[in-house]
Amino acid sequence: MNQDQLKQAVGLAAVDYILPHLEEDSIIGVGTGSTANCFIDALAQHKQKFDGAVASSDATAQRLKDHGITVYDLNAAGELEFYIDGADETNEKLELIKGGGAALTREKIVAASSKQFVCICDDSKWVNVLGQFPLPVEVIPMARSYVARELVKLGGDPVYRQGVVTDNGNVILDLHNMGIRSAIELEQRINDIVGVVTNGLFACRPADVLLMGTSEGVKTILAK
Ligand code: 5RP
Repeated sequence: MNQDQLKQAVGLAAVDYILPHLEEDSIIGVGTGSTANCFIDALAQHKQKFDGAVASSDATAQRLKDHGITVYDLNAAGELEFYIDGADETNEKLELIKGGGAALTREKIVAASSKQFVCICDDSKWVNVLGQFPLPVEVIPMARSYVARELVKLGGDPVYRQGVVTDNGNVILDLHNMGIRSAIELEQRINDIVGVVTNGLFACRPADVLLMGTSEGVKTILAK
């Protein structure tokens, strides 16, 4: 199977995973990216079995609406049963790097508002040590240079993601060359820098379960 087929397989697996728990009034959280899109497309076949979704980005909201799925504001939805989203990297604790699609802040908010975070990805995202994928940091535009200097002090090489403005009107610094051995500590330290909105480490609130596409089928992995 190629990577696209693995993404489709985990999208379907995520639908199978949540479907038995969905009720007419259920609202689910939906992530952003090509793997999340596979989930949305598979979910659309079952849109009469739940009420709607909260989207983690404008792009996801549009895709859900295109399928005729009702999109709710998170403030109107309350606590969500499930959040389903992809990742750029995961380790065995299901600590993640996310934000390759610049949607990290809303993704983190919707994940925090959900009882269960189901991560979906293909096995190219599995790593022993997080940080080969540059860590995205969402920053208030006027703080960009200051935050970059502070990130250098932490030992990384921040690179401004040219031409990208997040759905929240901010910019992204991608932090290269961090071998991340203590993800919770680093997530908190970066978030303490004035001007940072949030960073793409999902370690304080990791995924609860990972559905990982492999050539031997989809594996269900719980955090170690
Ligand atoms: C977007 C994300 C995505 O979940 C992450 O980049 C993975 O994307 P894809 O499924 O396309 O590989 O965090 O901000």
